Amino acid sequence: MLMTTKRACAASNWHKECNLSHELLTALRENTHAMHQALDHHPMMARLLQPELTATTYANTLAWLHPLQTVLEGHLAKLLSTYASHLELASRVAALNDDLERLNTQPYQLPDDIQLEIQRTLTPSLGTVAGMLYVLNGARLGSAHIARRLQYTSPDLPSRYFAEANGEIHWPYTLKLIDHLENYEYSDCTSAAEAVFRWYIKVMNSAQQDAVCQTVCGYT
Ligand code: HEM
Repeated sequence: MLMTTKRACAASNWHKECNLSHELLTALRENTHAMHQALDHHPMMARLLQPELTATTYANTLAWLHPLQTVLEGHLAKLLSTYASHLELASRVAALNDDLERLNTQPYQLPDDIQLEIQRTLTPSLGTVAGMLYVLNGARLGSAHIARRLQYTSPDLPSRYFAEANGEIHWPYTLKLIDHLENYEYSDCTSAAEAVFRWYIKVMNSAQQDAVCQTVCGYT
């Protein structure tokens, strides 16, 4: 999925436009590169890009993306009110709910302990806000790629969650926030981005196990 090249290109372009200091953004990219690859190659995500995507398979991935999005946004909203009240969350949950409704699919509910894990792991701080935004708003960039693919392979599937991600609007603000962090916030920022990626992969692995189990056990 051309991740290395595209991410590297994006880095140099944004740096030219925004004149960002490299240090923190480079660390974020280096520290999360392998985890991003694990995610964009993950069976639950990679199937969104396959030509033979069915509505059932698509709906299953969206059903699992729902708790990921709501839990992360919910925690971020709390942190924003304390550490960056000037920033707006721009939630993607309404678009995801709408897609799921059109697919007649209920969102998946994560067990409480997994939901709570993310807030237990992250230190409340502005650095953490920036690290969370790096992941959530970076995912909007990947969503544009997924939306284009869906438009080509499965134009009848409801895809507001991906098509209305608006990464081009949110990404520059994220880079600005990262650029304005004080040095002492750097480690919270990278730790948060890594923790969010790690948690995301953990949930996606559970989703995949569940999907395999459903196939083997013949639930679907
Ligand atoms: C099939 C799944 C995915 C694909 C194909 C994908 C693809 C991409 C692409 C093409 C970019 C670069 C976009 C650009 O520069 O305009 C990107 C950036 C990014 N994606 Fe993904 N992505 C996927 C899933 C995810 C997920 C699930 C997350 C996080 C939970 C994520 C986080 C990021 C981040 C943080 C960036 C920005 C990296 C940077 O430039 O520093 N992606 N993705």
